[in-house]
Amino acid sequence: MNQFICRKCKAIYPLDVPRWKCDCGSILDIEFEPVFDLEEIERRKPTMWRYREAIPIKNDENIVSFDEGFTPIIEVIFHGRPVLIKQDQLFPTGSYKDRGASVLVSKIKELEIKQVVEDSSGNAGCAISAYCAKADIDCNIFVPEDTAPGKLSQIQFYGAKLNKVPGTREDASNAVLKAAQKIYYASHSWNPFFLHGTKTFAFEICEQLGWKSPDTIILPVGNGTLLLGAYIGFNELFNSKIINKIPKIVAVQAINCAPLHTAFKENLKKVPKINKKDTIAEGIAIADPIRGKQIVEAVEKSNGDFIVVDDSEIKESLKEICKKGFYIEPTSAAATAGVSKYLRKSKYHEIIVSVFTGHGLKTTEKMLKL
Ligand SMILES: Cc1ncc(COP(=O)(O)O)c(C=O)c1O
Ligand SMILES: [Zn+2]
Repeated sequence: MNQFICRKCKAIYPLDVPRWKCDCGSILDIEFEPVFDLEEIERRKPTMWRYREAIPIKNDENIVSFDEGFTPIIEVIFHGRPVLIKQDQLFPTGSYKDRGASVLVSKIKELEIKQVVEDSSGNAGCAISAYCAKADIDCNIFVPEDTAPGKLSQIQFYGAKLNKVPGTREDASNAVLKAAQKIYYASHSWNPFFLHGTKTFAFEICEQLGWKSPDTIILPVGNGTLLLGAYIGFNELFNSKIINKIPKIVAVQAINCAPLHTAFKENLKKVPKINKKDTIAEGIAIADPIRGKQIVEAVEKSNGDFIVVDDSEIKESLKEICKKGFYIEPTSAAATAGVSKYLRKSKYHEIIVSVFTGHGLKTTEKMLKL
C-alpha cells in the first residue's frame, strides 16, 4: 500500500493529495513497496533514476532530472587505511541534496503545484531552486543572513526568490513556516519525498559494491536527510533480500551544535534544547532537527554511533583532503574528520563508506579565510 503514515497518531493519507505534515502536527513517512529488477537496473543509464520502480513517482513524464547520480565511489587513504568515498559533491548543484530535490520536485510537478517555499542553510535551497527552474515552478527560498555567498548567488541565478532572514538558521525555519500556511512547503526536512530521493545513495553504494552492503557508513548529520534516506534505502534492499545486513551508521556532528549526539550518548527520550555555538560546518549546524528522534533511533537500530568533531579537527581534515586533489566544503570535512576519529578504534578489515557531500567552490570566502 502506497501512502503517507504518521507514526505518532497512526493516521494515513493518500500520496496524491498535497501534504507535508500530519493533521496532528507530526512528521509523516511514506509506506511504499519498492521493486528492484537488478538485471534491468544494470542495463539502464548510470543515474539515480535507474532504480525507477523503487521511487514513488507515478508517471515518467513528471520526472524532473538532470541525469544526476550514480556518483563515483573512490578509495581514499586515511592514515594508511582505505575508505570508500562517494563523490556526491559532483551533483549538478554541487551537493547530494539534488537526490532529494529531483524526487521531491518530480512529486510537486505530479501534484500540479506551481509555487513552493523552502528554508535552507544553502545547499537544499540551491537544489530545490535548480529543479524548480527546470520544472518551471515558482520558488521562494528562506535562508539565514550569514549563508555562504556562493550558495546565495546560485539560488538567485536559478531564478528563485531569495529571502535573507535576520538571525539564525532557526529564525529562517520559523519564517518559512508562516509562508507555508499558504504555499506548499518543499521542505527537505519535513517532506518524506525528499528522503525517497536521498535513499538512492544507499542503492548506488550497494550496487557499486556488487550488490553488497558495506560494514559501516560515516555521514555528517544536521537534519539527517542523507542519514534517514540512506537508512530507508538500506532497509528496502534488505527487505527485498538483495543485501544481507544493514551497515552500522556512524553519524558525525559538530561539537558546537550536537543535540543528536547528546540525546544518543545520554539515552534521552527527547532531543534536548542546546546552546548552539558557531561552527564552520554551517550545513550541519541544526539546533532543533525536526526528525531528531527518528535519526537517533536509526543510528541505534543499526548498532551505530555518534561522533563529535571540533572546528580545528574539521579544518585539519579539510586541508588533508584537499591536498589529495579533492575540493570539498567545510561541512563535508566534518564527516572526514569523523572518519579519522572513527578509524582510531575500528577493526582493520571493516569496509567503510563515507561521502563528500558538498563542493568547495560553494564556500570560496570561507576557504580563503582558512
Ligand atoms: C554539504 C552538506 N553536508 C551535509 C549536510 C547535512 O545534511 P542534513 O542536514 O540533511 O543532515 C548538509 C546540509 O545542508 C550540507 O549542506
Ligand atoms: Zn499524526
